[in-house]
Parts: sequence; C-alpha cells; structure tokens
Amino acid sequence: MSTLVIVGSQWGDEGKGKITDYMAQEADVVVRSQGGNNAGHTINFDGKKFALRSIPSGIFHSNIKNVMANGMVIDPKQMLEELRSLEERGILNYQLYISGRAHVVMPYHQRLDGAYENLKKENKIGTTKRGIGPCYADKANRIGIRIADLIDPESFSIALKNALEIKNKELKMLGEKEYTFDEIYEEYVEYGKKLKPFVCDTSLLLEEEIEKGAKVLFEGAQGVMLCLDHGTYPYVTSSSPTGASVPLNAGIAPQNIESVLGICKAYTTRVGEGPFPTEIHDELADYIRERGHEYGTVTKRPRRVGYLDCVALNYARRVSGINYLALMLFDVLSGLDKIKICYAYELDGKEIYTVPANLKEYYRCKPLYVEMDGWKEDITKVQSYDELPQAAKAYMKKIEELTKTEIAIFSVGPDRHQTIRLKDIF
Ligand code: IMP
Repeated sequence: MSTLVIVGSQWGDEGKGKITDYMAQEADVVVRSQGGNNAGHTINFDGKKFALRSIPSGIFHSNIKNVMANGMVIDPKQMLEELRSLEERGILNYQLYISGRAHVVMPYHQRLDGAYENLKKENKIGTTKRGIGPCYADKANRIGIRIADLIDPESFSIALKNALEIKNKELKMLGEKEYTFDEIYEEYVEYGKKLKPFVCDTSLLLEEEIEKGAKVLFEGAQGVMLCLDHGTYPYVTSSSPTGASVPLNAGIAPQNIESVLGICKAYTTRVGEGPFPTEIHDELADYIRERGHEYGTVTKRPRRVGYLDCVALNYARRVSGINYLALMLFDVLSGLDKIKICYAYELDGKEIYTVPANLKEYYRCKPLYVEMDGWKEDITKVQSYDELPQAAKAYMKKIEELTKTEIAIFSVGPDRHQTIRLKDIF
C-alpha cells in the first residue's frame, strides 16, 4: 500500500495526531488537505512536545515532503508563527510545499467568526473563532483571496480592495469595526514574501510522487461528524474532513486512495454544541474526562464525554469510505464494572441504525445499548492483542461487528510504543 488517508471518525480529537505521527515515520509525503488552524495536535519529537495547528506532521523529518493542499484555509500570520517556533526549537531542515490554490484566512474572517457567534446567541456553533467558516464562505462566494494572490503584491492589492469593499459592509452591518486597506496590505505582503518560496502546484507534486510509488499519508483534521455535508449540520466545521473529500482537496485522482483509516476513541467526545445521543451526564463522564485528559487542544474547553456510538461510527464508515479502524485511548476505560456500546437509536418508538438529517429528530434519538463487562486491569503495558483481558477483547470484537470494520491498530497510552499494530496497512 502506498497511500493512506487518516480520518477522524467521530467529532474530532480522536487521537489522529498520534497515529499520523506514528505513520509519518514510514511516509515519504504527508499532506494536510482541508481545514486550517482550527485543528491542533501535540507531537512528541526528540523528547520535546510540539503543538501543530496547520503545518503537516511530517515536518520533523527532513526526508519527508510536507504538503498544505488546495482545500486548506491558511492563516499566514499564525502559520508563520508556527513555523518560526518550530525553527527556534531546532526544526530547521524541513520540506514544505503550499498550494497556490489554498485560501487565505484574513483578519476580517476572524472578526466575523466572533460576530456571527455572538449574534447566534443560544444557537451558537461553538466555533474555534479562527475565521474558518467565514473564509470558506468567501471561497464559495468567490470573493476569497488565495495564496497565489497573496504572494503577488499586485494581485493581492486588487483582491484585497475587492474583498474589503464587501467585507466592510458586512462588518458595519454587524456593528463591528471595519478595516482600512493600509491596515492589512503591507503586513500581508510581507507574509506573502515569506511564504513564496514554499508555494507550488501541489497537485502536480502529488501526482509525481504517487507515480514514483512514494508512500503518501493524508493526515486528518476534525472528524466525519463535523463534516459540512454529512455531519450534524449546522454544528459542524465548514469543510469536509472525510476520506471522500481528499481527492478534491488535494487535487489527486480518487482511484489513488488505497486505504482509509478511521481513528476512533474507545468512547466518544465532542467539543462545542450539537446533538450527542450517548453523552454521559454523571460522574462517569468526569472519570473518563480526567483519565483521557479530555480538554480542547486549541480552546482548552472541557470536552463532552459519552459512550461509544456505533451508529455514528458506522455512518462515518459509510460516508467516508473507512476500511480500517484505529481504536484510541483504550486504556482510559480500565477500571469500570460495566461498559455500554450504542448499537442503534430509538426515534419515536422506532429502532434506527443511521444518523437522521433532521437535527430535531437527532436530538430526540435515544441510544440503545449493549452492556458489556468492563475490565479492571491496567492495559497500558500491553504489547499485543493476546495480552488484553478477555473483556477488552470482547469490547473490540463488538465494535468490529457493529461497524463491519476491522480494527488495524489499538492504542493504550500516549507513547509511540503503546501503539499496537494488528495489520500492516501502509
Ligand atoms: P470551526 O471549525 O472553528 O468553524 O468550528 C466548528 C465546530 O467544529 C466547533 O464545534 C468546533 O469545536 C469544531 N472543531 C473544529 N475543528 C476541530 C478539531 O480539530 N477538533 C475538534 N473539533 C473541532
């Protein structure tokens, strides 16, 4: 296998960073294809901890080509800070390629993100306020600014004037401070100059690499249930974090995707608002939250915690083309007498096995559970499937059965050696 897509198969924060980092060791190319600095994960490299937001995870290895593809929205100010902080900490020999077709997150996008959230009051999405939604909206509205414009002062000047003409009216209407051209132009031309050496046609680069037989890893950000099309709209992000979106967002042929690895926790979490049928509202949620360190990487918000929802997971498999699962944070569940897995929802007296499109219906869905035995043993030192307690094995088998998907990896702790591979998929 030479191409692998990693997707979050729940509502984000499934531990994609760890698996991406683990798989990146074997990759020749690592690609981020959508989203921006709303994502965030921590990587341990050479005994040091690094937080990455928009830069691909292969950046620590000088032999890996790192691609920020056309489907991304890039905040140049934040991205350059991220790069500078990596350089300051000794990451100097890296290969980075940025698509000229990626869109630029501008300061007015962030201001608008906050303004829309405030306006929505109790209906707010709970966004990361990084300007992601307004940037993708401008892309769809064809008033966005692309990296190719940013690195060309003349094109940027025209694009910025055109955008401000509209964005300032929007800001004014929302009672927000407007921007002058001069406030932005010079500063962003400087960012453009710094980014220019990295900009190229990343679609072309990927085609050449795939033809050569290079191992290409498409790293995931967010999760399938946050997908603009298939997620719990409107409580979603503004792009598609599915396997299916990768060819579009990276400019490659769909037939070049060989495997899609869905990363899922042994339970479920969610940040921000929106339906969450298996959410736990008693002290068990605190037990899992504390053991799993379930606080947002970007916003530090405590995450909502629930039982594993195999209806949502199976749905994610279907819409995203997941053919293997990586089961993360398995060790967090040690110590419980009983543990539940949701196998169906009950909606108005009927048993259903999929996620309803209507949000009101989704809020009415009651989870139906199979109750499994828990296990008391600490499994953080387990190195193989055989070493797992019987109840933990049964838990894995039940997930495979309910999602019709093989578990290729399970993880019992934050370190690389706590990652147990059951199948070679890359
Ligand atoms: P936005 O992407 O900032 O517009 O936020 C929209 C929703 O997606 C909010 O509920 C965020 O908490 C969620 N979200 C965005 N990025 C991530 C992520 O990387 N992990 C988990 N949730 C995310």
